[in-house]
Amino acid sequence: MERTFIMIKPDGIQRGIMGEIISKIEKKGFKIIQAKLFEPSRALVEEHYEEHKGKTFFNELINYILSGPVMAMEVKGEFAVEVMRNMIGDKDPKLAASGTIRGEFANSMNTNVIHGSDSIESAHLELDLWFK
Ligand code: GTP
Ligand code: MG
Repeated sequence: MERTFIMIKPDGIQRGIMGEIISKIEKKGFKIIQAKLFEPSRALVEEHYEEHKGKTFFNELINYILSGPVMAMEVKGEFAVEVMRNMIGDKDPKLAASGTIRGEFANSMNTNVIHGSDSIESAHLELDLWFK
């Protein structure tokens, strides 16, 4: 069984679609084994998005994640990393397939509702970072 790190971003919480997103994860048959709703520190968010440091959108991305509470979750299930990425959909709203979470709920690259680890290795690192 794989474990992956999922985060409902501040726009997802503010728009009141947290329950709907959690429901999709549960209906898929995945288990949420840890969760916390909180406002992360700048240091935590900058470390999480370290791979994007120096890119043009980095500051905007960090400030957006710091704009309100997020729901951080550890999600467990068979092939959870890849299956959750497929359920989340592309970050580009033009490419996010309908039926995916971003396809259904996101219309902007800057505010796109949800994060999921992009590999088993990043899942380990991100779970350690957010739940240590
Ligand atoms: P995350 O789950 O948030 O990590 O998204 P992702 O894995 O689908 O995309 P990626 O890790 O490449 O980028 C992280 C976040 O940075 C995205 O969700 C976007 O909000 C933002 N981002 C990435 N590329 C661009 C870009 O070219 N322009 C802008 N404005 N934002 C971007
Ligand atoms: Mg990413």
